[in-house]
Amino acid sequence: MEPREFPQIEQQLAPVFERHGREANQLLQILREVQEIFHFIPPAAITCIAAHLGVPRTRVEGVAGFYSFLSLKPVGEYRILFSDNITDQMQGNPELMRYFCHKLWLEPGKVSEDSLLSVDSTSCTGMCDQGPAALVNGWPLTNLDHERLDLIAELIRGRKPVCDWPPRLFEVKDNIRRSGTLLGEPFAPGAAIKATLARGSAATLLEMEASGLRGRGGAGFSVARKWSMCRASPGEQHYMVCNADEGEPGTFKDRVLLNSYADLVCEGMTVGARIIGATKGFLYLRGEYRYLLNKLEQVLARRRAAGLLGRNILGETGFDFDIEIHLGAGAYICGEESALIESLEGKRGRPRNRPPFPVTHGYLDQPTVVDNVETLACAARIAAQGGEWFAAMGTAQSSGSKILSIAGDCARPGIYEYPFGVTLHEILDDCGAEDSYAVQVSGPSGILVSSKEFGRCISFEDLPTAGAFTVFKRGRDLLQIVQNFAHFFAHESCGFCTPCRVGTQLQKKIVDKIANDHGTVSDLEELKQLGHIMQTMSHCGLGHTAPNPVLDMLKKFPDAYQHKLKDLAFEPAFDLDGALETARNITGRDDTWAHLP
Ligand SMILES: Cc1cc2nc3c(=O)[nH]c(=O)nc-3n(C[C@H](O)[C@H](O)[C@H](O)COP(=O)(O)O)c2cc1C
Ligand code: SF4
Repeated sequence: MEPREFPQIEQQLAPVFERHGREANQLLQILREVQEIFHFIPPAAITCIAAHLGVPRTRVEGVAGFYSFLSLKPVGEYRILFSDNITDQMQGNPELMRYFCHKLWLEPGKVSEDSLLSVDSTSCTGMCDQGPAALVNGWPLTNLDHERLDLIAELIRGRKPVCDWPPRLFEVKDNIRRSGTLLGEPFAPGAAIKATLARGSAATLLEMEASGLRGRGGAGFSVARKWSMCRASPGEQHYMVCNADEGEPGTFKDRVLLNSYADLVCEGMTVGARIIGATKGFLYLRGEYRYLLNKLEQVLARRRAAGLLGRNILGETGFDFDIEIHLGAGAYICGEESALIESLEGKRGRPRNRPPFPVTHGYLDQPTVVDNVETLACAARIAAQGGEWFAAMGTAQSSGSKILSIAGDCARPGIYEYPFGVTLHEILDDCGAEDSYAVQVSGPSGILVSSKEFGRCISFEDLPTAGAFTVFKRGRDLLQIVQNFAHFFAHESCGFCTPCRVGTQLQKKIVDKIANDHGTVSDLEELKQLGHIMQTMSHCGLGHTAPNPVLDMLKKFPDAYQHKLKDLAFEPAFDLDGALETARNITGRDDTWAHLP
């Protein structure tokens, strides 16, 4: 787009600017909407946004370049992104993507000549229980097959707007297969707030402590401790943030909580806000769940009308709290709480140095609590029903229940709620998994568990999990699975620190080398050393956990890679014979003499 079109672009952007104002922390939200209008971020729009927000043009460009759903180059009017999560792969997504590209004469990663369509892959879209899945212009397509792709091709050829496509293409089911106290019992909106007001904030904090509630986002930090530290931190303003980034491949339980239990989540945020003294809250919703935005906005509007959000909540003078939804734009690292806060401030999602922690220096450097969706839903239940009731469930160090997102090789994928302490055997029985070989607990950053360990249980003291539970039956190629995870981390590393930026790339290359039958014993040694460096030297949790699947495979599943190793101590990573393939194709030769010995 030429600068001379600037006045026109200014007009087009006027409603976006009107909605988001002039605060620089709205930058990501503005860029997201610009992407929706133009299907990319035109240079003229960058100039215009920079002038509007009063920030350097380089900042706008830097943010636009960071998030994978934003593009500085034109993409198709219809942009289809196939989920490349391992379960989508197992369900046939790579073949479906090839089929679709072939049908429409398109190469993945390229834009069609008429600018109509572009096709590419993306990290897990959170639909593992109803894959193969993809996104079209940010809207989820589920249960893809050849017939559906034929229909989609017709719709695109006919230039039918995505909002007019048949709703069945976009159907997303909750698939709740097992409910416990969190999902199964009725909840009257306002009950937790009323109980908190009646009991008082300090006493409610004691209930949180008595409940033993620990964060469900992965780290398992005590909620009572986090809230009391934030409450005690001085600041002009305190903030309550709900982490709904749910980027860990294989995890989709927050999707269901937000779709069908949003009142419980908002109520948890409001109770938390009362305790820490926050008047403002954010719900950071992953870009892949954009389809939930309108529904969530309606929940917020309903709660405002019912006096459960806004000024003087439930008639309590001075109890003011409201929630704003911020959408992410395709960056796994933004689930890390300090990167999430950067993203909320309209910046690149780069994890901050810690300490100081968000409870003292978070959003806009003010005391901030960041909690997972499920944690907040639990907090609402505890505020309403008391800490002892909650602590009576689960194990000594893991009170309450845990929601699992179960997918992979099982007959009944979906959402399962269990009291902590449940064994993998019981879970595998329930979800109809047969002849299971391994389970990836808590996604690629978690633990790869072998069938010998299926007596272990889900709990902070044994197998902690943020929720993903991916089943692999005997016969699955574990090396291919670990390769998928290594590619995921290399793609999602934010690039800020060297051990992770370089380490994830090297790890990917070595795993690829082994998968391509060129690996040797020295490569295994290198993977171990590299893993150790990443675990100990990286700046944040992504780098610390990125080697987990590779190291677990080396330790527990030697059969997965040993038959692939060459009988050599060393083999260069660069495959010279492979690199000559293009030349062989051009010259039409593939005889013995055209190959290196
Ligand atoms: C790379 C990375 C990604 C993360 N993604 C998420 C996420 O998607 N959702 C989440 O709740 N926590 C995620 N976390 C954990 C958060 O940093 C943080 O611990 C959590 O939101 C705190 O909430 P909780 O105490 O309720 O668990 C992630 C951490 C890392 C290192
Ligand atoms: S560990 Fe990885 S994701 Fe984390 S700051 Fe370093 S490069 Fe970024």
